Amino acid sequence: MLHGKRILLIVAGGIAAFKSLDLIRRLRERGASVRCVLTEAGAKFVTPLSLQALTEDRVYSDMFSLTDESEMGHIQLSRDADLLVVAPATANLLARMAGGLADDLAATVLLATDKPVLAAPAMNVRMWTHAATVANVETLKKRGVTFVGPNDGAMACNEFGPGRMSEPLEIVAAIEAMLVRDRPLAGRRALVTSGPTREALDPVRFISNHSSGKQGHAIAAALAELGADVTLVSGPVAVPDPTGVKVVRVESADQMLAASLEAGALDIAVCAAAVADWKAARPATGKIKKQAGAPPPALELAPNPDILATLSKAGPRRPALVVGFAAETENVVANAVDKRTRKGCDWIVANDVSPATGTFGGERNTVHLITEAGVEDWPPLGKGDVAMRLAGRIALHLAQAGKKQAAE
Ligand code: CTP
Repeated sequence: MLHGKRILLIVAGGIAAFKSLDLIRRLRERGASVRCVLTEAGAKFVTPLSLQALTEDRVYSDMFSLTDESEMGHIQLSRDADLLVVAPATANLLARMAGGLADDLAATVLLATDKPVLAAPAMNVRMWTHAATVANVETLKKRGVTFVGPNDGAMACNEFGPGRMSEPLEIVAAIEAMLVRDRPLAGRRALVTSGPTREALDPVRFISNHSSGKQGHAIAAALAELGADVTLVSGPVAVPDPTGVKVVRVESADQMLAASLEAGALDIAVCAAAVADWKAARPATGKIKKQAGAPPPALELAPNPDILATLSKAGPRRPALVVGFAAETENVVANAVDKRTRKGCDWIVANDVSPATGTFGGERNTVHLITEAGVEDWPPLGKGDVAMRLAGRIALHLAQAGKKQAAE
């Protein structure tokens, strides 16, 4: 997560500039704010309007514009950022940076900055391997510029080799590695379950639910950001895999339980999955066919294993902190308090999933955290913020528990 981080993205003129649009989206998803400087050549590949729409900010390109300078001078642009990201970094812009030129707004900002700089080169393979570029990159590395990529691969110019700009998620991972240093969960192993499960009725039909996996995936990402070694056991979801997390994909509750036990996370387990409570007692091996005139087939159900309860009662294999979720539509807190005792977990994150709240599949969540100490009502937050706050609480709890143990 990159909450509150401010990225100044410099987009130079290369075909890879189209990937910068996705990069902006992914940075904003993680809570960063992004402001763009677009070079004249960059504007031949992406329009200022696209960047403006994605950043929800104006785009800076003209050093000699009175409005640009009075609203946001080149010094202020870098002062207001935590990190400058050059993506794509073309051979030309790298040469101008190495030479200390200040011949446009991008080069001037890069010369005037005292902030860390990350460059994602993108160019033809011959330009990347040319002695001039090699020397420029060496010079910039010595001055503290960090590089991500380029990757090997087919290029727009029909050649193959190093020169392709890194994928947006690789650039995001490099940004996170530079900006997120505090890793209180380093050395801890965490399991997160997320998404729905699917219980087969026959080879083509299943029972499932509306869970999107957004909250569980955000928690996995937040724990990883704080340094934990995270295994995310996920049912079928459309949300992308979080970076820096081991993802195990499953379909049924039985598979989710097996993968969760297999993960062997002895420090933290967060069960955010909406596990189907029942499965077909006898799933058909072939497709169930309609019989003319016959009544619809009766569905006989059998209970699924309870993953949260199993982990909570796993004896020596029990994770030190087990956190469950309670999706409720009425008496949210009372039901969740009861669920905490019934399931034997340490904490419960309770949320109201009535259709009117838009929680299922939505971006926001209003939760109550139920711990051994009582009930906390959290304000309405984005799912990323809920995840970060929960991960922070988990880190604090484990640190305090560690201190207590050391004192005993
Ligand atoms: N859970 C689980 N395995 C199950 C059912 C639920 O691990 N088979 C976990 C969920 O991941 C969540 C918590 O248990 O952390 C509560 O899930 P919820 O569906 O709200 O509760 P239920 O157990 O279904 O209870 P109820 O039917 O009373 O709402």
